[in-house]
Amino acid sequence: MGNNITLIGLGAMGSVLGELMVKNNISLTVWNRSKEKAAGLIAQGAKYVPDVHTAVADSRVIILCVVDYKASNDILAGLDLTGKTIIQLSSGTPADAREMQTDILARGAEYLDGVILATPPQMGQPTTPIFFSGDEKIFREQEAVLKTLAGNLVYMGPAVGAAAAWDLAILSTMFGMQFGFLHGARIMEAEGIPVGALGDTIAALSPVLAEMVQEVGHDIEKSQFSQPLSSLEICAYCFELMQRHAAESTITAPFPAFALEQLNQGRAAGFGKERFAAMIKLMR
Ligand SMILES: NC(=O)c1ccc[n+]([C@@H]2O[C@H](COP(=O)([O-])OP(=O)(O)OC[C@H]3O[C@@H](n4cnc5c(N)ncnc54)[C@H](OP(=O)(O)O)[C@@H]3O)[C@@H](O)[C@H]2O)c1
Repeated sequence: MGNNITLIGLGAMGSVLGELMVKNNISLTVWNRSKEKAAGLIAQGAKYVPDVHTAVADSRVIILCVVDYKASNDILAGLDLTGKTIIQLSSGTPADAREMQTDILARGAEYLDGVILATPPQMGQPTTPIFFSGDEKIFREQEAVLKTLAGNLVYMGPAVGAAAAWDLAILSTMFGMQFGFLHGARIMEAEGIPVGALGDTIAALSPVLAEMVQEVGHDIEKSQFSQPLSSLEICAYCFELMQRHAAESTITAPFPAFALEQLNQGRAAGFGKERFAAMIKLMR
């Protein structure tokens, strides 16, 4: 068993995790529901075993990267996990993580929860982030192995659901920007400007944009809603301009319509002269 690691799940993400471990000379046993996905890793030196019982028996440390927690629970059902260290890298909710920790501890094993905040081709870089929460002892013990997967490992504290909460909050922020970007792309197309240039410009502006998000975060935490540098009224006006531009150029504008509807609720609630962060009061 020694320092062997077992990796369960060889989808788009799991197979890259396996490749990184093999490249870093980690002795690896892999298992996947569909055997054919193991072919590449077998060729690179990983050991494939056809049944998950043997895969789990092969190592003390088991890393899971399958579609979700339900699949993880189904895979581990009925297996002897006594003395094992289970590291979950499938995405889920904080409650998923809490339930899985309770189950794994009751079965005589240790549990660490992690979330990958990158795509498969972004893995293995010094900046690649994976957030962890739960048992800090396991995190420290396995840090060297986990560093082969991602250089930027962040421990988010002992509450096991914390990593999943961070994941969902960051995904919400990122996809909020992506939906906004799609409308930005339609504005560029309508005006005959290359969309790729918009992405490049956003990347160059990202520290400034990030400062704005930072400010909203601190405003919310301190309940600091008055004395705006740009009032909610001015924010709403931006979306009125986008709607007018959409009408002028006959493009559809679902994202500005959604944002303006929300901001109009903020105006109606009397937050027009407050900071953008005041929108949180509606959501609460
Ligand atoms: N891809 C990304 O960009 C990315 C980024 C961050 C986090 N993640 C997370 O990483 C995890 C894996 O993602 P992925 O992109 O590798 O997904 P994927 O390519 O769709 O692979 C899904 C994996 O789950 C397995 N699976 C699904 N249902 C199963 C079941 N009932 N029993 C046994 N195995 C089952 C699949 O096995 P088969 O091969 O047999 O179908 C496969 O190994 C997800 O939780 C995802 O949210 C992915």
